[in-house]
Amino acid sequence: MSHEDLASTFDDWAAQGRADRMEKSHGIAIHAILDDLGIRAGETILDMGCGNGWATRLLARAAPGVQAIGIDVAPAMVARAEELHSYTIRARYEVMTFESLEFEDGHFDRTFGMESLYYAVDLPQALSEIQRVLRPGGIADFVIDFYAERAATRRWSEHMDVSMLFLSEAEWGGSFAGAGFENFTTRRVVDPAGPGDESNFEPSDWAPDWKTYVAMHEAGSLWMHAEKPG
Ligand SMILES: C[S@@+](CC[C@H](N)C(=O)[O-])C[C@H]1O[C@@H](n2cnc3c(N)ncnc32)[C@H](O)[C@@H]1O
Repeated sequence: MSHEDLASTFDDWAAQGRADRMEKSHGIAIHAILDDLGIRAGETILDMGCGNGWATRLLARAAPGVQAIGIDVAPAMVARAEELHSYTIRARYEVMTFESLEFEDGHFDRTFGMESLYYAVDLPQALSEIQRVLRPGGIADFVIDFYAERAATRRWSEHMDVSMLFLSEAEWGGSFAGAGFENFTTRRVVDPAGPGDESNFEPSDWAPDWKTYVAMHEAGSLWMHAEKPG
């Protein structure tokens, strides 16, 4: 899939208000791990595939003096992020692709991405760019809901009509190692509130029945962590 096609798809999502809905659904996992990310005062953070920028702003507020930049291939997502921006937060947003990061080598202390990295058009190139813009010892954290061990998500790409990389934890680890990262670890992040009440369940393309929905809930989000050698 080309970057133009991705931009067109996610511009449509922004126009339909889906950027703001993702803040609610994706926010649970990020709030659950925010302290464990270990963000330190003064860090410079790149939020990759920022959507409406909610996570960019959350990261920027995680410690004093943090500066966060959100990038996204879809101009309408970046426009929405700018609309929601507060000038009391050290954050900004740019239209850019994972595969061509317009920053100097070693610019960031860490990179982050929520539900974004599996859209990479060229994963080895994206990981190589992440590696380049991180300082030695810099950290890459990505959280995804679409991965092979969460088998019930297998058909998401088909339903969305978007190319998505359906990789296992081991395959992700191999990809990060192939780009020169070390200390790859993963953790499952499961919403402690549980799947909710079956009587309120509404079938969708994402979860056509209650059993599938519960299986997805139990698998949780996959938090991947890797480090650039120091
Ligand atoms: C599912 S949305 C998640 C947005 C946001 N992180 C959130 O949780 O609300 C994925 C975002 O990644 C962006 N994206 C996908 N592939 C990209 C690429 N190759 N380069 C830059 N952005 C990309 C999309 O435009 C979209 O806004």
